[in-house]
Amino acid sequence: MLRLDDLHAQYGAIVALRGVSLEVNEGELVALVGVNGAGKTTLLSTVAGVMRPRRGDIVFEGEPIAGLTPETVVRKGIALVPEDREIFSDLTVEENLRLGAYIRRGRGEYGADIDRMCELFPILRERFRQDAGTLSGGEQQQLAIARALMSHPRLLMLDEPSLGLAPKIVDQVFALIEQLHRDGMTILLVEQNVTRSLAIADRAYLLNMGTVQASGTPADLRQDVDMESIYLGGGD
Ligand SMILES: Nc1ncnc2c1ncn2[C@@H]1O[C@H](COP(=O)(O)OP(=O)(O)OP(=O)(O)O)[C@@H](O)[C@H]1O
Ligand SMILES: [Mg+2]
Repeated sequence: MLRLDDLHAQYGAIVALRGVSLEVNEGELVALVGVNGAGKTTLLSTVAGVMRPRRGDIVFEGEPIAGLTPETVVRKGIALVPEDREIFSDLTVEENLRLGAYIRRGRGEYGADIDRMCELFPILRERFRQDAGTLSGGEQQQLAIARALMSHPRLLMLDEPSLGLAPKIVDQVFALIEQLHRDGMTILLVEQNVTRSLAIADRAYLLNMGTVQASGTPADLRQDVDMESIYLGGGD
């Protein structure tokens, strides 16, 4: 479904991705792990069209998408929940969700989508008319994911969804990701919580200094890699 081929990206003179190739197949949950600065966020930003690749191809459902604008990438069916969530604090939960529906694939009933989100995330129904800034960290993460889902993505990319959340809320977020996966969503998950993400992933890639250092099933990765080197980045 998604294929990156020899992807290079840099910030001025700082090279962040040096020839990354990877694949996400339809229906898969692929984990992308690696220490701070490995290039995980850069990779997602480049796929999402927020950053332009220096070199290499990004192919989504057979179509090259490298260099398209973020809006066009969303229209193609890829949604990103960014590391900092980018919730609009002064807008209500409902308004945030509506912004997610602004760009979408195909048509669909806005009301039906809202109902589906409120079923998936009951807290959002309770807080529907409340400013998003008043939500807790975990609730904001749920809102960020719900907003991404409002665009009807075929591929959902999550950047550190468990970051800064209390352990109990982290459990909820991982349970939610598993549920979305079971329901058929294709997911590319960036996490520093290596144990948790390998536990739910079909396959995983270990990124190190802008290159893929290892890849395979979670079992392969656990066996091949000096796990200590990635646990330094976090996890439990
Ligand atoms: N806006 C920026 N300007 C300059 N350099 C940047 C910028 N953003 C990231 N970098 C550099 O690019 C490299 C990759 O960063 P990136 O944010 O992709 O890593 P990451 O794997 O997401 O790290 P983390 O786990 O800390 O989120 C790092 O060396 C980082 O310092
Ligand atoms: Mg990052």
